[in-house]
Amino acid sequence: MYTHLQERYATRPPVTISTLARMKAEQQKIACVTAYDASFAALVDESDADLVLVGDSLGMVIQGHATTVPVTLDDVIYHCKAVSRGLYRPFLMADMPFMTYASPEQALNNAVRLMQEGGAKMVKLEGGASQVEIVEFLANHDIAVCAHLGLKPQSVHKAGGFRVQGRNEAAAEQMMHDAKLLEQAGADVVLLECIPAALGAQITAELHVPVIGIGAGPDTDGQILVLYDLLDITTGRKPRFSRNFMVGVDSPLQALKNYVTAVRDKSYPAPEHCF
Ligand code: KIV
Repeated sequence: MYTHLQERYATRPPVTISTLARMKAEQQKIACVTAYDASFAALVDESDADLVLVGDSLGMVIQGHATTVPVTLDDVIYHCKAVSRGLYRPFLMADMPFMTYASPEQALNNAVRLMQEGGAKMVKLEGGASQVEIVEFLANHDIAVCAHLGLKPQSVHKAGGFRVQGRNEAAAEQMMHDAKLLEQAGADVVLLECIPAALGAQITAELHVPVIGIGAGPDTDGQILVLYDLLDITTGRKPRFSRNFMVGVDSPLQALKNYVTAVRDKSYPAPEHCF
Protein backbone atom coordinates (compact mmCIF):
# COMPACT_ATOMS: atom_id res chain seq x y z
CA MET A 1 0.00 0.00 0.00
CA TYR A 2 2.84 2.39 0.80
CA THR A 3 5.10 1.48 -2.14
CA HIS A 4 4.94 4.88 -3.80
CA LEU A 5 5.77 6.58 -0.51
CA GLN A 6 8.72 4.25 0.05
CA GLU A 7 9.99 4.92 -3.47
CA ARG A 8 9.63 8.63 -3.03
CA TYR A 9 11.44 8.45 0.30
CA ALA A 10 14.31 6.53 -1.25
CA THR A 11 14.95 8.96 -4.07
CA ARG A 12 14.13 12.19 -2.28
CA PRO A 13 14.41 11.86 1.49
CA PRO A 14 12.80 14.58 3.59
CA VAL A 15 15.13 17.20 5.07
CA THR A 16 15.81 16.83 8.79
CA ILE A 17 17.86 18.72 11.37
CA SER A 18 20.71 16.30 10.55
CA THR A 19 20.47 17.17 6.85
CA LEU A 20 20.84 20.86 7.71
CA ALA A 21 23.83 20.17 9.98
CA ARG A 22 25.47 18.08 7.25
CA MET A 23 24.87 20.80 4.68
CA LYS A 24 26.67 23.28 6.93
CA ALA A 25 29.57 20.86 7.43
CA GLU A 26 29.81 20.26 3.66
CA GLN A 27 29.39 23.98 2.86
CA GLN A 28 26.27 23.37 0.78
CA LYS A 29 23.98 26.38 0.88
CA ILE A 30 20.54 25.89 2.45
CA ALA A 31 17.66 27.38 0.41
CA CYS A 32 14.70 28.49 2.54
CA VAL A 33 11.49 30.36 1.84
CA THR A 34 8.25 31.23 3.62
CA ALA A 35 4.88 29.75 2.64
CA TYR A 36 1.36 30.19 3.92
CA ASP A 37 -0.87 27.75 2.01
CA ALA A 38 -0.92 24.26 0.48
CA SER A 39 -0.75 25.31 -3.19
CA PHE A 40 2.36 27.45 -2.78
CA ALA A 41 3.84 24.83 -0.43
CA ALA A 42 3.54 22.24 -3.22
CA LEU A 43 5.34 24.58 -5.62
CA VAL A 44 8.05 25.28 -3.05
CA ASP A 45 8.46 21.52 -2.58
CA GLU A 46 8.80 21.04 -6.34
CA SER A 47 11.39 23.82 -6.48
CA ASP A 48 13.60 21.68 -4.20
CA ALA A 49 13.89 24.25 -1.39
CA ASP A 50 15.29 22.75 1.80
CA LEU A 51 13.34 24.55 4.52
CA VAL A 52 9.95 26.27 4.68
CA LEU A 53 8.93 28.79 7.31
CA VAL A 54 5.32 29.57 8.15
CA GLY A 55 6.35 33.03 9.23
CA ASP A 56 4.41 35.55 11.21
CA SER A 57 5.10 37.73 8.15
CA LEU A 58 1.69 36.29 7.24
CA GLY A 59 0.30 39.15 9.34
CA MET A 60 1.65 41.57 6.75
CA VAL A 61 1.48 39.70 3.42
CA ILE A 62 -1.74 37.72 4.02
CA GLN A 63 -3.69 39.66 6.63
CA GLY A 64 -2.68 43.19 5.59
CA HIS A 65 -1.40 44.38 8.96
CA ALA A 66 1.44 46.91 9.18
CA THR A 67 3.46 44.65 11.50
CA THR A 68 3.62 41.02 12.69
CA VAL A 69 2.43 41.97 16.19
CA PRO A 70 -1.31 41.17 15.69
CA VAL A 71 -0.64 37.59 14.52
CA THR A 72 -1.98 34.93 16.90
CA LEU A 73 -0.91 31.35 17.57
CA ASP A 74 -4.17 30.13 16.00
CA ASP A 75 -3.35 32.10 12.84
CA VAL A 76 0.04 30.39 12.51
CA ILE A 77 -1.45 26.97 13.27
CA TYR A 78 -4.13 27.47 10.59
CA HIS A 79 -1.54 28.33 7.91
CA CYS A 80 0.91 25.69 9.12
CA LYS A 81 -1.75 22.98 8.73
CA ALA A 82 -2.34 24.06 5.14
CA VAL A 83 1.38 24.26 4.33
CA SER A 84 2.14 20.87 5.87
CA ARG A 85 -0.45 19.28 3.53
CA GLY A 86 1.42 20.61 0.48
CA LEU A 87 4.94 19.75 1.62
CA TYR A 88 6.91 16.57 1.40
CA ARG A 89 10.68 17.16 1.31
CA PRO A 90 11.41 20.55 2.95
CA PHE A 91 11.82 20.86 6.71
CA LEU A 92 8.84 22.76 8.15
CA MET A 93 9.44 25.51 10.70
CA ALA A 94 6.75 27.70 12.28
CA ASP A 95 7.02 31.08 13.94
CA MET A 96 6.00 31.54 17.56
CA PRO A 97 4.01 34.80 17.40
CA PHE A 98 4.42 37.87 19.59
CA MET A 99 4.03 37.09 23.32
CA THR A 100 3.42 33.37 22.88
CA TYR A 101 6.72 32.48 24.58
CA ALA A 102 6.89 34.89 27.52
CA SER A 103 7.49 32.08 30.05
CA PRO A 104 9.00 28.59 29.62
CA GLU A 105 5.67 26.84 30.28
CA GLN A 106 3.77 29.08 27.87
CA ALA A 107 6.46 28.54 25.22
CA LEU A 108 6.32 24.76 25.68
CA ASN A 109 2.51 24.60 25.46
CA ASN A 110 2.48 26.74 22.34
CA ALA A 111 5.39 24.95 20.65
CA VAL A 112 3.58 21.65 21.24
CA ARG A 113 0.44 23.08 19.55
CA LEU A 114 2.49 24.25 16.55
CA MET A 115 3.91 20.74 16.21
CA GLN A 116 0.88 18.60 17.04
CA GLU A 117 -1.83 20.70 15.39
CA GLY A 118 0.18 22.58 12.77
CA GLY A 119 2.62 19.85 11.75
CA ALA A 120 5.73 21.99 12.36
CA LYS A 121 9.02 20.22 13.00
CA MET A 122 10.85 23.22 14.44
CA VAL A 123 9.70 26.45 16.08
CA LYS A 124 11.29 29.87 15.65
CA LEU A 125 11.35 32.60 18.25
CA GLU A 126 12.80 36.09 18.27
CA GLY A 127 15.25 37.33 20.86
CA GLY A 128 18.75 37.45 22.24
CA ALA A 129 20.21 36.54 25.60
CA SER A 130 16.83 37.12 27.27
CA GLN A 131 15.47 34.03 25.48
CA VAL A 132 18.19 31.64 26.65
CA GLU A 133 16.01 30.16 29.41
CA ILE A 134 13.13 29.59 26.96
CA VAL A 135 15.37 27.99 24.32
CA GLU A 136 16.95 25.74 26.94
CA PHE A 137 13.54 24.69 28.27
CA LEU A 138 12.25 23.82 24.80
CA ALA A 139 15.47 22.02 23.85
CA ASN A 140 15.33 20.01 27.09
CA HIS A 141 11.87 18.87 25.97
CA ASP A 142 13.32 17.73 22.61
CA ILE A 143 11.80 20.55 20.60
CA ALA A 144 13.89 21.80 17.69
CA VAL A 145 14.38 25.56 17.98
CA CYS A 146 15.52 28.32 15.65
CA ALA A 147 16.64 31.54 17.37
CA HIS A 148 15.99 34.72 15.36
CA LEU A 149 18.51 37.56 15.93
CA GLY A 150 19.22 40.93 14.34
CA LEU A 151 16.12 42.81 13.24
CA LYS A 152 13.29 41.36 15.32
CA PRO A 153 9.99 42.43 13.73
CA GLN A 154 7.96 41.59 16.86
CA SER A 155 9.96 44.29 18.73
CA VAL A 156 9.24 46.98 16.14
CA HIS A 157 7.32 49.27 18.51
CA LYS A 158 9.99 49.05 21.22
CA ALA A 159 12.82 49.46 18.68
CA GLY A 160 11.17 52.42 16.96
CA GLY A 161 11.06 50.95 13.45
CA PHE A 162 12.48 48.32 11.11
CA ARG A 163 16.23 49.07 11.07
CA VAL A 164 19.46 47.30 10.19
CA GLN A 165 20.95 45.93 13.43
CA GLY A 166 24.52 45.32 14.64
CA ARG A 167 26.03 48.26 12.80
CA ASN A 168 28.30 49.47 15.61
CA GLU A 169 31.00 47.48 17.37
CA ALA A 170 29.18 47.12 20.69
CA ALA A 171 25.96 45.93 19.03
CA ALA A 172 27.89 43.49 16.82
CA GLU A 173 29.73 42.06 19.84
CA GLN A 174 26.46 41.71 21.75
CA MET A 175 24.87 39.84 18.84
CA MET A 176 27.82 37.46 18.57
CA HIS A 177 27.63 36.86 22.33
CA ASP A 178 23.86 36.24 22.19
CA ALA A 179 24.20 33.86 19.24
CA LYS A 180 26.75 31.76 21.13
CA LEU A 181 24.60 31.70 24.27
CA LEU A 182 21.57 30.58 22.27
CA GLU A 183 23.58 27.85 20.58
CA GLN A 184 24.83 26.64 23.98
CA ALA A 185 21.24 26.71 25.25
CA GLY A 186 20.25 24.24 22.53
CA ALA A 187 19.19 26.28 19.48
CA ASP A 188 19.48 24.03 16.42
CA VAL A 189 19.46 26.86 13.88
CA VAL A 190 20.11 30.61 14.14
CA LEU A 191 18.41 33.07 11.81
CA LEU A 192 19.96 36.52 11.25
CA GLU A 193 17.84 39.34 9.81
CA CYS A 194 19.10 42.66 8.43
CA ILE A 195 22.65 42.90 9.69
CA PRO A 196 25.94 43.88 8.02
CA ALA A 197 27.30 41.14 5.74
CA ALA A 198 30.60 41.06 7.64
CA LEU A 199 28.82 40.33 10.92
CA GLY A 200 26.71 37.63 9.22
CA ALA A 201 29.93 35.99 8.04
CA GLN A 202 31.57 36.20 11.50
CA ILE A 203 28.61 34.72 13.37
CA THR A 204 28.29 31.93 10.78
CA ALA A 205 31.97 31.08 11.13
CA GLU A 206 31.83 30.99 14.95
CA LEU A 207 28.67 28.88 15.35
CA HIS A 208 28.47 25.13 14.90
CA VAL A 209 24.76 25.12 14.06
CA PRO A 210 23.44 26.24 10.63
CA VAL A 211 22.91 29.99 10.26
CA ILE A 212 20.22 31.21 7.86
CA GLY A 213 20.28 34.82 6.72
CA ILE A 214 17.80 37.33 5.37
CA GLY A 215 19.63 40.54 4.57
CA ALA A 216 22.69 39.15 6.38
CA GLY A 217 25.05 38.83 3.43
CA PRO A 218 26.25 35.99 1.20
CA ASP A 219 28.27 34.05 3.78
CA THR A 220 25.55 32.62 6.01
CA ASP A 221 24.94 28.88 5.61
CA GLY A 222 21.62 29.53 3.91
CA GLN A 223 19.21 32.22 2.75
CA ILE A 224 15.53 32.79 3.39
CA LEU A 225 13.12 35.16 1.64
CA VAL A 226 9.46 35.98 2.08
CA LEU A 227 7.68 34.13 -0.74
CA TYR A 228 5.58 37.13 -1.76
CA ASP A 229 8.70 39.32 -2.08
CA LEU A 230 10.58 36.93 -4.35
CA LEU A 231 7.46 36.35 -6.48
CA ASP A 232 6.87 40.13 -6.67
CA ILE A 233 3.39 39.84 -5.15
CA THR A 234 4.22 42.27 -2.32
CA THR A 235 3.07 45.77 -3.21
CA GLY A 236 4.93 48.99 -2.40
CA ARG A 237 8.55 49.34 -1.41
CA LYS A 238 10.53 46.08 -1.44
CA PRO A 239 13.24 45.34 1.13
CA ARG A 240 16.74 46.04 -0.18
CA PHE A 241 17.84 42.43 0.45
CA SER A 242 15.05 40.96 -1.66
CA ARG A 243 15.17 40.12 -5.38
CA ASN A 244 12.30 39.78 -7.84
CA PHE A 245 12.74 36.25 -9.22
CA MET A 246 9.74 36.65 -11.56
CA VAL A 247 11.86 38.75 -13.91
CA GLY A 248 12.34 36.83 -17.16
CA VAL A 249 10.25 33.79 -16.18
CA ASP A 250 6.64 32.86 -16.87
CA SER A 251 5.67 30.89 -13.76
CA PRO A 252 6.01 31.07 -9.97
CA LEU A 253 7.50 27.55 -10.04
CA GLN A 254 10.30 28.64 -12.37
CA ALA A 255 10.94 31.71 -10.18
CA LEU A 256 11.22 29.48 -7.11
CA LYS A 257 13.55 27.07 -8.92
CA ASN A 258 15.75 30.01 -9.98
CA TYR A 259 15.81 31.27 -6.38
CA VAL A 260 16.93 27.85 -5.08
CA THR A 261 19.62 27.66 -7.78
CA ALA A 262 20.79 31.22 -7.05
CA VAL A 263 21.15 30.43 -3.33
CA ARG A 264 23.04 27.22 -4.10
CA ASP A 265 25.38 28.74 -6.70
CA LYS A 266 25.80 31.84 -4.45
CA SER A 267 24.67 34.31 -7.12
CA TYR A 268 22.04 35.48 -4.58
CA PRO A 269 22.50 37.60 -2.53
CA ALA A 270 24.60 39.95 -4.66
CA PRO A 271 26.38 43.02 -3.22
CA GLU A 272 23.31 45.22 -3.89
CA HIS A 273 21.24 43.02 -1.54
CA CYS A 274 23.69 43.42 1.37
CA PHE A 275 24.26 45.93 4.17
O1 KIV B 1 8.06 35.85 9.53
C1 KIV B 1 8.91 35.70 8.65
O2 KIV B 1 8.63 35.56 7.46
C2 KIV B 1 10.31 35.70 9.06
C3 KIV B 1 11.33 35.84 7.97
C4 KIV B 1 11.52 37.28 7.70
C5 KIV B 1 12.58 35.16 8.30
O3 KIV B 1 10.62 35.65 10.21
